[in-house]
Amino acid sequence: MRIAIGADHGGFPLNERVIEELRGAGHELIDFGTHDGSLPDDYPDYAKQVGEAVQNGAADIGLLICGSGVGAAVAANKLRGIRAALCGDTYSAHQSREHDDCNVLCLGARVVGVELALEIVRAFVAARFTGEERHRRRLAKVKAMEENF
Ligand code: RB5
Repeated sequence: MRIAIGADHGGFPLNERVIEELRGAGHELIDFGTHDGSLPDDYPDYAKQVGEAVQNGAADIGLLICGSGVGAAVAANKLRGIRAALCGDTYSAHQSREHDDCNVLCLGARVVGVELALEIVRAFVAARFTGEERHRRRLAKVKAMEENF
């Protein structure tokens, strides 16, 4: 799978562990950094890069990490066609794909521990949208809301 990943200073160094995990599992990464947690960077810049990579098809899914995961999720969800899920548990991670067809996972590096974060990433990456009619109906309603932006 092609996965775009970005993290601000609050998401570093968890992003390094996630990158290692995903590369080890054979995924192709588009890595937007940061690799320096001492720089005062801004999460919307990473959300834009990762979201655009998903929008334009360079990546199948995206992964964003900031301190809480909240800012990254808020910013990514401003992008048309991006459905970003902030997850702190594995159930939400796989259901966000299966029911809500989410295409970006957001993590809070100051909230979840490394091992839980890696399990959340594995759950999100492995899950697929079920395509069931009730989920398509609900997603169509979300899309209709987006059309009014
Ligand atoms: C950075 O200090 C922090 O505000 C950011 O990483 C993120 O948690 C915002 O939601």
